[in-house]
Amino acid sequence: MAMDYSRAADWIVAEDSFDPEYLGKCESIMCQGNGYLCLRNATDEFNPGEQRDLFVAGTFNKFDDNEVTELPNAADISRLDLRLDGVRFSLLTGKVESYDRALNLKTGETTRRVVWTAPNGKRYQLVFSRFVSLDRLHLIVQKVEVTPLDGDMELDITGGINGQMNNGGSQHFSEGDKRLFEGRHMQYNQTTGQSGIHFVFHTTFSFAMDGVPQDEKGFIVMDRRIIKQEFKVAIPAGKTLTIQKLSTVYTSRDRDSEGLELSALQEKALAGQKGICALGYDALLAESARAWSAKVWDNVPVTIQSENAFDQLAIRFSQYHLYIMTPMHDNRMNIGAKGLSGEGYKGHTFWDTEMFILPYFIYSAPEVARSLEEYRWLSLPGAHKKASGNQYEGAQFPWESAWIDDGEVTPVWGAADIVTGLPTKIWSGFIEQHITADVAYGAWEYYQVTGDQDFMDRCGYELILDTGKFWASRLEEGTDGLLHINDVVGPDEYKEHVDDNAFTNYMAAWNIRKALEYSRQLKAERPELYSALDKKLGLAALEPQWEEKLNRIYLPQTREDLVIPQDRTYLTLKDIDLTKYKNQKNVGSIYRDYNQEQITHMQVSKQADILIMFLLLENQFSADVKRANWSYYEPRTLHDSSLSLSTHCILANDMGNRDMAYQLFSSAAAIDVGPNMKTSDAGIHAASLAGIWQSVVFGFGGVRMLDGKLRIDPALPDAWTGLDFYIYWHGQKLHITLSHTALNIENLTGTETVELTVYGKAYQVQGQICVEL
Ligand code: BGC
Repeated sequence: MAMDYSRAADWIVAEDSFDPEYLGKCESIMCQGNGYLCLRNATDEFNPGEQRDLFVAGTFNKFDDNEVTELPNAADISRLDLRLDGVRFSLLTGKVESYDRALNLKTGETTRRVVWTAPNGKRYQLVFSRFVSLDRLHLIVQKVEVTPLDGDMELDITGGINGQMNNGGSQHFSEGDKRLFEGRHMQYNQTTGQSGIHFVFHTTFSFAMDGVPQDEKGFIVMDRRIIKQEFKVAIPAGKTLTIQKLSTVYTSRDRDSEGLELSALQEKALAGQKGICALGYDALLAESARAWSAKVWDNVPVTIQSENAFDQLAIRFSQYHLYIMTPMHDNRMNIGAKGLSGEGYKGHTFWDTEMFILPYFIYSAPEVARSLEEYRWLSLPGAHKKASGNQYEGAQFPWESAWIDDGEVTPVWGAADIVTGLPTKIWSGFIEQHITADVAYGAWEYYQVTGDQDFMDRCGYELILDTGKFWASRLEEGTDGLLHINDVVGPDEYKEHVDDNAFTNYMAAWNIRKALEYSRQLKAERPELYSALDKKLGLAALEPQWEEKLNRIYLPQTREDLVIPQDRTYLTLKDIDLTKYKNQKNVGSIYRDYNQEQITHMQVSKQADILIMFLLLENQFSADVKRANWSYYEPRTLHDSSLSLSTHCILANDMGNRDMAYQLFSSAAAIDVGPNMKTSDAGIHAASLAGIWQSVVFGFGGVRMLDGKLRIDPALPDAWTGLDFYIYWHGQKLHITLSHTALNIENLTGTETVELTVYGKAYQVQGQICVEL
């Protein structure tokens, strides 16, 4: 065993023994951040195979014309080289007597305790602690406590700032100035090659012996892209030396540093560094822990009374990551598919945001949700560029996005094709088009749940209308007199170049309908706003088009057995025995036997496709239709995307299959905090983590926004006796407490009445209600 999830009651995700095979997993799942920056939890000492990453949100750079823009791996401040009595500290040598690495989700601190016998037989105790401040966005703090267990010792410590980092070989930075201030503050500068973003780093060591500050003089070393200091300290037997390393990073992309000359940015960063150094590890940690409580744990905690303590740990783990991955400070930035936890997906934003992550923030921190949707609005120029490049009109959102005006940034080539030996072409950037409707849906969902009219006036209407304009231009005249959407990739990426993907067509129709409704409503009720938008988008000419096209858009209908064809050919494709892949240990194993072309021609799905549509457009489909499609498609779905399980969990619960729902929840919860050692190497799965929250609150909690109305139809799994959570609805904070027999809703804000239904019955809550189940 390496991973240890048994300390759930203490909020601990841990590794209880050192196994280099788990380096990547722990680096990812124990990464630390605050949405501005995020540091992977690579061990302080070097280990072969490590992936030491530090990302600052939104600092995208394109290394080369043949590559897409990506989040660059900035200089490293975390590595420390220790020599204990002349012997290099490495857990790959000597003997590890005891080992424990723990992430405390409540405070955001990680602590690694090691008792190590060096190859020469001398024993030492080392405790490495680290956190990234949640509210001081630029700050990373490390501490190492070294105690000799066999007599006096001499310790050599080397550390600093290392700009030799890269992304899979691509070096995004040019080297800048290096300098030591006042004999202790090291400064390193680097600038991204294409986007020209300056990064200014500082790091400062300080020392204490048994708590008494020591004035240690370091020897300064500068090398190619490196600045570091070397210290030599004698530690008497029985004493503990504490090494503290405080680091900060500022960039010229920071909103409050825009337009600053590099020298001014350096001055600002140095002043920030000195200010921080006046405070110590403990005070800064306590402050950050308070921020965690205020923002999350005391504000929107989710409490699960389950016979499996892991369930509680999983939902807290999900919330922890949602806050460290989300650039809440800047609406020009969005969330990467791997958050900020690894180089996977290059820091790019996908539909994962709107479909999976946005709902968490809509219901838990609406101001963050607004920022995420404002990002889409600010990205409209890129969406226009993409539409016109494809000879369409309006706003066509990129499948993958990075900086707001980048437009499409999906890489063109991907993994090896096992048949041809060539790289596989990634078609999503060209033809995975449902993202445009997903973005519109996200804006609408935000508005329906929050009632934020100001957002709608500034951004929301325009997003829905401009995307509606795209779809009207996208529809293709068929020989049957209907309008089709041909040659797309739907959510199920195992099917390429399909016609009339049901999800895409239904969502496009939804988008056009909403555009038409809002256009008419604005004309009647908000003439000024209407005329401004009409001038921008040509609404007067669009309205009749929308109306006419809505009547003719082809929406795949149910067969006799109530199954809806996922696309025009899916149901005619050959079925193969999927047992082997259904029972796989690692996802994507089908690619070891077939290439994409072959998979496209089989009835096998990567992830939920039609089933997501049932969640988004819930009222359009009967329970029987949902059940029939579940039974047809689930056995053919490999859940090879981590996005798949939570959708299936929620629907299983809706269909009354609570055991299955709980099983799916447990599998979804274990994607990152699970036993599998390799799943998270390239980073955590952002959408899947938010999916855990959705499974709990939308699934077992039964919360749904349906046509603008709140519905709560809970159904707890047998393993749970209670569930307790908070949601915001139109500015009212609701505290929801659930058992198998009762649902309690308290309106904590209480300034307005919230209307909702529970199992079809209407209720109003301004104070508190209790509904027997
Ligand atoms: C999934 C997509 C998802 C992407 C990023 C892919 O494997 O098929 O639906 O958007 O990963 O998470």
